[in-house]
Amino acid sequence: MNPTVQSYFDTQTCTATHIVFDAPGGQAAVIDPVLNYEPKSGRTTTKSADQVLAFLATNNLQLQWLLETHAHADHLSGAQYLKEKAGGQIAIGEKITEVQKTFKTLFNLEQEFPVNGTQFDVLFAADAKFSIGRLTAQALYVPGHTPADVAYLIGDAIFVGDTLFMPDVGTARCDFPGGDASQLYHSIQKLLSFPPATRLFLCHDYPPAGREVCTQTTVASQKASNIHVRDGIAEADFVAMRGKRDAGLEMPYLLIPAIQVNIRAGAMPAAESNGVHYLKIPVNGL
Ligand SMILES: [Fe+2]
Repeated sequence: MNPTVQSYFDTQTCTATHIVFDAPGGQAAVIDPVLNYEPKSGRTTTKSADQVLAFLATNNLQLQWLLETHAHADHLSGAQYLKEKAGGQIAIGEKITEVQKTFKTLFNLEQEFPVNGTQFDVLFAADAKFSIGRLTAQALYVPGHTPADVAYLIGDAIFVGDTLFMPDVGTARCDFPGGDASQLYHSIQKLLSFPPATRLFLCHDYPPAGREVCTQTTVASQKASNIHVRDGIAEADFVAMRGKRDAGLEMPYLLIPAIQVNIRAGAMPAAESNGVHYLKIPVNGL
């Protein structure tokens, strides 16, 4: 059985959120939801997540899963907000524990901050299988962008997270802690070994001038024309290209707030004695 997919694009962070379900009235998964965040004021809003809630309500869908492909550095997760409003279990790949350890140190988080993934409801082991209503699903382990990335195979569709972008944009960066271009190359080959017509749903799009935003492609089109990993590009060439390119990239502008929230499964750090939640900035730490 193949899923129906409804996608929303957050233009502030260029992030796609996908709602996946078998039929109206059934169970749904939401992949990579966004909590809107304005860094100048430190204010959060829920416009993106509220679009998701409205679609679920209109189609009488029960929210079963909130699936994260990884601890995002470019947007704050809306998973906790959606869980509060609509239920469901928040899941991510089990290697999130490595990411939590790295950033607990960088942000000098409270001693009691757990680095065993217990902030999430479910941790998927590599290539673990699960179901979304009547749909069969699998959490494909695809490290490289971070050590914890998973892609979700659901029917004839794969939600690739930060591995592949559109063919004219290429691939995800590998310079975050624990990132590895060689691993990403092999993870991408794993994704491209699925049948040519397999639908690939992206986590981001950064369209070149003149092209509309698009967050869906196929294995066939990636193999034919991805500027970084089309057929015929060797691992060594990919790794060299990625290293050179990553050396010139700036940090994502929401990295500092996003990571602190996303390693907590979309929750803010506990409120302080005045009831306000605070995020830290490690001065000269990055
Ligand atoms: Fe990412």
